[in-house]
Amino acid sequence: MSITDRINKLRKERNAVILAHNYQLPEVQDVADFTGDSLGLSRQAAKTDADIIVFCGVRFMAETAAILSPDKTVLLPDLLAGCPMADMITAEQLRQFKAKFPGSVVVCYVNSTAEVKAESDYCCTSSNAVAVVNAIPKNVKILFVPDCHLGQYVKETTDRDIELWPGYCPTHVRITAEDIKKAKAEHPAAVVLAHPECSEDVKPLADKLLSTGGMLKYAKAHNDREYIIVTEVGIIYSLAKKNPEKKFFSVNERAICPNMKLITLEKVLWSLENMQYKIVVSGDIAARARDALDRMLKIV
Ligand code: 13P
Ligand code: SF4
Repeated sequence: MSITDRINKLRKERNAVILAHNYQLPEVQDVADFTGDSLGLSRQAAKTDADIIVFCGVRFMAETAAILSPDKTVLLPDLLAGCPMADMITAEQLRQFKAKFPGSVVVCYVNSTAEVKAESDYCCTSSNAVAVVNAIPKNVKILFVPDCHLGQYVKETTDRDIELWPGYCPTHVRITAEDIKKAKAEHPAAVVLAHPECSEDVKPLADKLLSTGGMLKYAKAHNDREYIIVTEVGIIYSLAKKNPEKKFFSVNERAICPNMKLITLEKVLWSLENMQYKIVVSGDIAARARDALDRMLKIV
């Protein structure tokens, strides 16, 4: 029996659902029941009838699923699949940040630990950060953590009083303005789609700033034939698969998230065989983090 057949058999026997982020390896995306961006996968996790969620992504995503579906078993196939950006602020650092700005409201990017979510008022993802900030009463100061690049984009778009935390994604900041200029020279007709985690000198060179799910929707809905994709390279696989008549060019082959790539088909199988590795968020942290996530899910 092939690995995929063994996964399919166990998925059925255990009533499991496999969720995969758009940056996952092609074979992992292919075996998943749902692929998507952070928001789409959070929604899937919140509404699934399955008993087990195998989360093919990084730890904060599995933690979010565990917080939103406390009665399900959430498995992360490799415990080392973390997100360095999420580890760039601790709950204690956030408490100190808040103490400097009494009366402020905290918006935390979903790329954060459960403890940091628990210290926050609202969660957001790259696809709804602007809408979440716009839903907060005017004239309050907003503390945006941990991604300063997404935060800067939100600040410019909403024109709100926002303090940024200096976190960033090591994969996205590897992409330079020079990379985009070179790709544009090679593909002058291509539309440039960039992720808001990119740095400030890169973003003005994009035609659109979108979450990974937003890029997939945009490419499907538009007639343009060529796209320069300014984010982690894994998404090119699903873009090309869903739009076989269009061309997608990666802007920098080194824009690879090593954590996302830790999940392999074998590890998905072992995860279902051995029920590993269980991600549990409990007690007060889970309840407070859920409040921040629920506030986000009610807005968009
Ligand atoms: P998306 O929500 O756009 O998929 O982004 C998640 C992420 O980790 C980007 O680096
Ligand atoms: Fe974290 Fe960046 Fe990897 Fe996304 S691409 S999971 S932000 S390290």
